[in-house]
Amino acid sequence: MASAQYGRSEYWEERYLHKKETYDWYHHWDGIKDIITQFILPTHNILHAGCGTSSLPFEMQAAGYSKIVNMDNSNILIEDMKQANEAGTMQWDHKDIRTMNYPDKSFDVVLEKGLLDSVLCGDRSRIMSQRMLSQIYRVLVDGGVYISVTHSPPEIRKSYFDERYWAVKDFKISMMRISSLKTDDEKIHYVYVCSKR
Ligand SMILES: C[S@@+](CC[C@H](N)C(=O)[O-])C[C@H]1O[C@@H](n2cnc3c(N)ncnc32)[C@H](O)[C@@H]1O
Repeated sequence: MASAQYGRSEYWEERYLHKKETYDWYHHWDGIKDIITQFILPTHNILHAGCGTSSLPFEMQAAGYSKIVNMDNSNILIEDMKQANEAGTMQWDHKDIRTMNYPDKSFDVVLEKGLLDSVLCGDRSRIMSQRMLSQIYRVLVDGGVYISVTHSPPEIRKSYFDERYWAVKDFKISMMRISSLKTDDEKIHYVYVCSKR
């Protein structure tokens, strides 16, 4: 993901106006669950940030994680998700990760797949990413974890996670691990697990 369009909210509004179907960037739950389940308990309050039309929260719910709040900056998307999941127990909030107003220390886990990547495609990306990360830090309980799934390798991405605030572990995932994938191409993605110090 390197295109400037991914950093613009208008792009996402336009996309979700037409694309209503489920779509997952990088990986489904199956491809990342071995890593993620090491850090999340079923009792945890989870913020799924930049949720998009990902199947992740539904797959996580089926795996026993019941306290999931989904948020995204696209109003169209969130209205659609609220309507489609009226009978469900998950929360859907229209918020910007950089200015979200959840109370301090209200989540055990913040999970995002492709959101930091999107923010880094936008204008003033370094500053905006720091706003995003400081909000995540604020809403996490002490010792809580921020999990980021991305295409970006450690030599580039780790410089964004200030070690004074985060203890960072990185994991590499190969697309070859996903049995349903029909291609032989080996694509590498990464999961960063950042514990709040
Ligand atoms: C690359 S998509 C990833 C969607 C989903 N997480 C997935 O894995 O399929 C990035 C998502 O982040 C949302 N987004 C972008 N900037 C945002 C912001 N500042 N605050 C909250 N959500 C944002 C977009 O609307 C989009 O749904």
